[in-house]
Amino acid sequence: MDEGEKMADSKEEKIKGLEAELKKARKTLADFSLNLKQAHAAIIQQEKLAAIGQLAAGIAHELNNPLGFVSSNFMTLGKYVEKLTACFNLVVEYSKQDEEMEENSKAGHLFRYVEENDLAFIIEDMGDIVSESRQGLERMASIVDNMRRFSHIDFAGKIAPYDLNEGIANTLVMARNETKYVTEVETAFAPVPQIQCRGDEINQVLLNILVNAAQAIAGRKKKGKGLITIKTHADDENVYCEITDDGPGIPKAVQDRIFDPFFTTKEPGKGTGLGLNISRDIIVNKHKGELSVSSKKGKGTTFLIKLPLLFQEEADQE
Ligand SMILES: Nc1ncnc2c1ncn2[C@@H]1O[C@H](COP(=O)(O)OP(=O)(O)O)[C@@H](O)[C@H]1O
Ligand SMILES: [Mg+2]
Repeated sequence: MDEGEKMADSKEEKIKGLEAELKKARKTLADFSLNLKQAHAAIIQQEKLAAIGQLAAGIAHELNNPLGFVSSNFMTLGKYVEKLTACFNLVVEYSKQDEEMEENSKAGHLFRYVEENDLAFIIEDMGDIVSESRQGLERMASIVDNMRRFSHIDFAGKIAPYDLNEGIANTLVMARNETKYVTEVETAFAPVPQIQCRGDEINQVLLNILVNAAQAIAGRKKKGKGLITIKTHADDENVYCEITDDGPGIPKAVQDRIFDPFFTTKEPGKGTGLGLNISRDIIVNKHKGELSVSSKKGKGTTFLIKLPLLFQEEADQE
């Protein structure tokens, strides 16, 4: 090999090296761009989830006022109905006492009107309508109250005292439409101390895990309703929430990926694959807790949330 050939060889090597570097740089750039895209989508989803809470808070606020005056009017109406009923009974009684009851006597006239229009039925039904409607109003008021609590709007995203059992109960009402047709829900709440956290975010996590459980049960082949069990307990350092479903379970290979952004086994439009990724971010990164899963194929799945009692102290140091 003469000098010229040697030089050409080393040039070629250099070029090859540069090409390899370029390839690596391109790959880094592609990875970076993918990460960016995923982060972007995760933010959008997080905002969507937060929006559920805000929406609930807004609706609760809007409904509160009309619900207030309709309820109060109904109380008054109830009292009026009572008085009118008493008056009606007197009218009937007095008309009967009018022995003449002639065709053209006033009492006879009144009596016939009462009979022809079935006022006895109307009076009775009016009482039923009032009391039934009052129950409906009470239920609406409790739903509104629940939406307010679920959204934690009173604390506006701040770290505040949070009762896990209450959070679960509120979230269950919000998720009722997802759960009620497909599964029974049983709760076993142990007394737990209040923790310091962002309650709206913890409720988002609970909602996501609950909806996942209900969707898993709905998607299984077995007939009949499923069962979701929610247990809580506490020790000196943490509170725990365990949500178990008797759905199809998660195969081992899939279990390793469920917390990855965009990992979903649901059809497009049903799942984004971001729910558990965001849930883990909320529990692990934002609240220094733990979120773990155990599952047996064909048997069901359990998600365990662990939240520290002393989060406030850490947060204060931030
Ligand atoms: N309780 C469960 N039972 C079975 N599979 C589950 C359960 N919870 C989550 N998964 C699996 O984890 C995947 C990711 O869940 P998630 O991050 O909430 O996204 P998504 O619900 O949008 O699919 C789901 O698509 C499903 O395959
Ligand atoms: Mg989900």
